[in-house]
Amino acid sequence: MADAELTENVFPIGSTINELGRLEVGGCDVVELAREFGTPAYVVAEDDMRARARGLRAAFAAHSDDFELIFASKAFPCAAVCALFAEEGFGCDVASAGELEIALAGGVPAERLQMHGNAKGELDLARAVEVGIGAIVVDNLRDLDRLEQLVEGRKQSIYLRIAPGVSPDTHPAISTGGPNTKFGFDLEHAPAAIARAQSIDSLELEGLHFHIGSQIFDLTPFEGALRALADLGDFKAYNLGGGLAAAYTAHDEPPSYEEYAAAKAGALRSVFGAGSKLLDEPGRALVANGCVTLYGVESVKRNVDTYVAVDGGMSDNMRPMLYGARYEAQIADRFGGGTACHLVGKHCESGDILIRDADLNQPVAGDLVVVPATGAYGHAMANNYNGALRPPVIFARDGDARLVVRRESNEDLLARDV
Ligand SMILES: Cc1ncc(COP(=O)(O)O)c(C=O)c1O
Repeated sequence: MADAELTENVFPIGSTINELGRLEVGGCDVVELAREFGTPAYVVAEDDMRARARGLRAAFAAHSDDFELIFASKAFPCAAVCALFAEEGFGCDVASAGELEIALAGGVPAERLQMHGNAKGELDLARAVEVGIGAIVVDNLRDLDRLEQLVEGRKQSIYLRIAPGVSPDTHPAISTGGPNTKFGFDLEHAPAAIARAQSIDSLELEGLHFHIGSQIFDLTPFEGALRALADLGDFKAYNLGGGLAAAYTAHDEPPSYEEYAAAKAGALRSVFGAGSKLLDEPGRALVANGCVTLYGVESVKRNVDTYVAVDGGMSDNMRPMLYGARYEAQIADRFGGGTACHLVGKHCESGDILIRDADLNQPVAGDLVVVPATGAYGHAMANNYNGALRPPVIFARDGDARLVVRRESNEDLLARDV
């Protein structure tokens, strides 16, 4: 397979097939990586993520004089990933005290962090205030009551999350800004929430926030969402959330960064003029394609259909089960197709199917399978079902590989038992 085809839009930028016919990611032969680190494993091409960070920054810079990019760390909550985006000039959003600790461990300065959550606990908010977090995105009146108690002797920047009543064309589970949602204040209740926020001396209401959903291909709803906020007043800043789609298969053609930035910046300008700051919170579009998952094939069997069973599954990638998400796969040293099969996980659920109707090149037990575009919400949603040990995260760059998260051990599984 030609490199051009391989790198098209799904594999990490710079991936190649080497002279042994094996995939290289970040200049590292993935067969060698599997030998060294075992499988399953997440392999991140560091330069891919950096290139995307720079590309998105350049795209916004071309359309806005006043913007801030915030990496939605829930997409890949890993200290090394947060560090990478911080080095590229991004802030970071966290959805709990736990994600806050991960971002801080990555060296992201507290003032560049923002906290989300529709059910923030006292401990989440207390820790955020304690570390001096840059901003808190208030979701409900209880957040305001708690912050009124917690913030002393200074002003805490906040945003109010508003549900603008706009639903993008995406899976219902990741549509978050419609008229009837658990996230934020709806348009009816927003004015009272704004008044309450403005009445608390220790809080500085910087602006409004929305996040209408994820894996968005059609960019037109962003303007509608901003128009829905227009009657709520004029604010210094608007956070338009994340949502840009990533390409999981060769058929996916998400908008370019350029189109995304132009749509968001243009919408903000047309609704609120040039005077307000644009904040953007991308997650998957930055991290999905920079990562591949390596799996070992444990068995190949024919039960009516052909089942290629690997040593991971829904414990390292929940998305196929949660959203029917599509991926593609290849045998790492034998790209191509010819064998119609289902790539299935090792878990005790018939629904544990990573790729239904996959097309692999004569798979056999012992093969190494690579699934690209697993950087977003893979590691993030990994779990221990069936005692699975969550996979390591390996950063690959210029032919060097470094472990940034080790594989879990059986001791880890028992570490909380008392
Ligand atoms: C509040 C908020 N901002 C940003 C994001 C990132 O979305 P995406 O990964 O689709 O860019 C999410 C994802 O759920 C979110 O909930």
